[in-house]
Formats: sequence, structure tokens, C-alpha cells
Amino acid sequence: MKPPIRIAVFPVAGFGSRFLPATKANPKEMLPIVDKPLIQYAVEEVVAAGVTDLVFITGRHKRAIADHFDKAPEMEADLEARGKTQLLEIIRSILPRNVNCIYIRQSEPLGLGHAVLCAQPVVRDEPFLVMLADDFIDSETPVASQMAAEFARHGSSMLGVQDVPREQTSSYGIVRTRPFADRLEDVSAIVEKPRPEEAPSTLAVIGRYVLTPRIFHHLAHVKPGAGGEIQLTDGIAALMGEERVLAYRFEGTRYDCGSKLGYLKATLQLGMKHPEVGAEFTQYVRTL
Ligand code: UTP
Repeated sequence: MKPPIRIAVFPVAGFGSRFLPATKANPKEMLPIVDKPLIQYAVEEVVAAGVTDLVFITGRHKRAIADHFDKAPEMEADLEARGKTQLLEIIRSILPRNVNCIYIRQSEPLGLGHAVLCAQPVVRDEPFLVMLADDFIDSETPVASQMAAEFARHGSSMLGVQDVPREQTSSYGIVRTRPFADRLEDVSAIVEKPRPEEAPSTLAVIGRYVLTPRIFHHLAHVKPGAGGEIQLTDGIAALMGEERVLAYRFEGTRYDCGSKLGYLKATLQLGMKHPEVGAEFTQYVRTL
């Protein structure tokens, strides 16, 4: 068994242009699903998997993320004075005490691969999780926990994957695989955003990765790829030259909350399940 994964990297430095104007001054990752920002769901997912160090790769206009995970003494004092103990507990329990937040600025959005490379001085020589908060996944067991458990068994880098309709392959990294074990496949090729007629399969990489630290060596050497960006996909393709990379078909329903339609679907589903407003909201939806 491998030791547990301690570190998760959250690349949050992108522009979120598909959500303009909402994301002009506010990070996409702070969009709420009902009452909790996307980034908090992602953080809760890794904390449940035993992660203690959170590395956020941020950019300009992303201060709200650091503020969200910081203490809010004035707000806490105010809620305490007004006897709002439940709300006080909600904001105090956003992060457990043993969890550290580390912020690294990516001064220019040069691509997801570059954002991950920015985490190297903190991650150094440990395996780590990479979480894209706008891939929101509703599941019984958090996907980060599912993948951490598989990593403990197999020790290989691992990509969260799911089948997508063939006409959508050009929005994803797509893998060619061979069966390996239950829910796991051995990746033999990975291509960034292939056209449907050229895609090696319809198995798409979703924003959950476990990577061995050797990825940094490859990310430091890849040339700008699709869209002129340093692509994480290209780094993974190079890593495959020397290490096994697995694809993991996670259990759960994934919503692409970087797109308006995916975000609306997630809001509807989670709204209908919400402990406070779910029953009434469901009744309302049924009247439409
Ligand atoms: P996306 O491709 O979703 O880009 O990046 P984006 O800017 O967030 O959104 P759109 O497409 O313009 O609407 C995938 C992930 O990689 C991060 C983003 O924050 C997002 O979580 N990223 C991307 C960086 O951190 N740095 C980059 O240079 C590029």
C-alpha cells in the first residue's frame, strides 16, 4: 500500500470566459450551487479523502477564493452577538483546523499544464491530486476518495474519465485504453480536444487526476500545444512514455459547471435535494 495522498492542487487561474459577465470580477469557482461555492465542494471532496495541504494556483481577480477559506473575525463576532449559532458553525467549519491553504500566483494563464507546474515548489516529490472545481460531481463516495483508494493499491497516475457523446470529443482530453481492472483501464494514448472523426474513443478526461511528481519534469519540457497553451494532456502523454497511467471510471454524476447548461442542471438537482429548501423547491419545479 502507498502512503495516503496529502496534497491537492486546485488550478483556478483561468478566465472563465464561458461565464462572462459573471466572471469578469468574480472567480468562476466561487459560483454557488445553491448556497456553497464550487470550490468549497471540491475542497470538501479532498478533505474527505484525507488531504491536508491545499495548493491553489490563482491569478488576478481570484482574491475571493483566499478570503472564502480565511477566518472572518468581524462576521463571526457579529453572528455570535446575535446568537446565530447555526450560521456561525457553518462559516467556522468551512475548513478543518488541520488543513493548510497555500496560494501560488500564475502570473499569466499559460494553460492548465503550466498551472500544475506552478505547484512544483510546494508539492516537490509527492504524488498529488489535481481538482478542477468546475467539474462538479455528485456521488455517494467523493471521487477524490475513490481515486485515492485506487492509487493506494496501484501507485500509478490516474485520470478520472467518463464516456461522452462522440460529437463532444473536441471539448475534452480523450484517451485510448485497454482493460486493466474493475473501473480501471490502462491508458495507451491521450489526445487533447480531437475532432469527433479523429478521436481514439469517447472516453473523456474529467477534472480529477492523481499524478506522480514525475509529471513536473515533463510539464517543464512540453511545448505549447492546442490553443498555444501548455497542456496538461501533453505532459501526461510524455509521462506515459516512462510510467503506467490509468484511467478510472468514477462513480457519480458529473456536471460541467464551467458551462451554463451544466451549471443550471447541477443547481436544479442539488436544489431539489437541499435539506432546507429541497422539498418546497421540488414542489415548485413540478408546477412548471
Ligand atoms: P478551462 O479550459 O475551463 O478555462 O480551464 P477557463 O478559463 O477556466 O474557462 P473558459 O473555458 O474560459 O470558460 C480548465 C481549468 O484550468 C484552470 C482553470 O481555472 C480551470 O480550472 N487554468 C487554465 C489555470 O489555472 N491556468 C491556466 O492558464 C488555464
